[in-house]
Amino acid sequence: MPIDFNKIPTPCYVIDELLLRNNLELIRKVKEAAAIDVLVAFKAFSNWGVFPIFKEYGFGASASSVNEARLAFEELGVKAHTYSPAYEDKQIVDILKYSSHISFNSLNQFRKHFKTAGHRDVSIGLRVNPEFSDSPYDIYNPCKPGSRFGVTAEQLGDPLPEGVEGFHFHTLFEADSLALENVLAVFEKKFGRFFSKLKWVNMGGGHLITGKNYDRNHLVKLLIDFKNKYDAGIILEPGSAFTYQTGYLVSTILDIVENNGIKTAILDVSFTCHMPDCLEMPYKPAILGATEQKVGKPTYRMGGISCLAGDFMGNWSFDNELKPGDRIIFDDMIHYTTVKTTMFNGVHHPSIGIWNKDTGFRLIKEFNYQDYKNRLS
Ligand SMILES: Cc1ncc(COP(=O)(O)O)c(C=O)c1O
Repeated sequence: MPIDFNKIPTPCYVIDELLLRNNLELIRKVKEAAAIDVLVAFKAFSNWGVFPIFKEYGFGASASSVNEARLAFEELGVKAHTYSPAYEDKQIVDILKYSSHISFNSLNQFRKHFKTAGHRDVSIGLRVNPEFSDSPYDIYNPCKPGSRFGVTAEQLGDPLPEGVEGFHFHTLFEADSLALENVLAVFEKKFGRFFSKLKWVNMGGGHLITGKNYDRNHLVKLLIDFKNKYDAGIILEPGSAFTYQTGYLVSTILDIVENNGIKTAILDVSFTCHMPDCLEMPYKPAILGATEQKVGKPTYRMGGISCLAGDFMGNWSFDNELKPGDRIIFDDMIHYTTVKTTMFNGVHHPSIGIWNKDTGFRLIKEFNYQDYKNRLS
């Protein structure tokens, strides 16, 4: 049965189960053909209400925080492969409890937490920075000079620190398999001397395996070649690929306003609250039934319901004039969108407190794991 958008109470993010299962199936095929581990990067999608579907496909989880690691444990039933730019002393024990693998971002972090981690059943890795990425956008390029991510080959030096069992790199963004091939060549050149000592190599995310033109056979060949050459197990942790083009944000027009010849449809959703990438990137989403602006056709901005002057995007053209009550359906609004309206990466939310000059600080509200979890499903 096709989706009847008029039956959906708005605003609502709607995942299409069929599209989701298609993606999960494509990724499972790659996982099985190359005999590798594939993790769901929770930072891109962690609406655990649909995890029972994910569980049917046997993927692991990649976490960026104690919140994501705990969610993986509770709702996907797996211990996470965890990486964060830095771990806080107060969280490291819990992170280790919910993790099977942990990657450190710097040699300082490795030395600081090695003792605690070394006493547990957790495999330890280092995030390395190959200083190479073909991401066309700086905001998604973790390898630019000055990057805060990973240890460079020069910083690592020789020998490999005792206790390091794996390398983790993440350099790609919505990339094809040729981009991975290019990264692997640089990775091998810069870090290859250590590969025989590693149990695993995590090749990060950014592989848009479910994209229309993605050459999955080429990916499988690259992975098998790498495995045949070295003895390390391979891990991929894509995020977007799992929920790429699997759903919508369904909204309703509340009013149409006009100013200086510009017509704006006021929606019951907001770009800044519910689609922050659109303003951050900026990224203009597709709207079902609309096109880019066309002269002679009814043309509108879409205006958010918040007070932010910049909470709008434009312009789209439609076949007919819009009116209050019409549905506006934003396409591909699942990966990174639903998580960004919560606590992105599971990052701990700042507390709220008040300072009084006589009595000092009073903590009013602290946010916890349940606050994080309850906003996702
Ligand atoms: C370390 C790491 N792994 C995996 C991912 C997932 O990447 P993608 O959603 O592009 O596949 C990201 C995204 O930022 C990341 O930083």
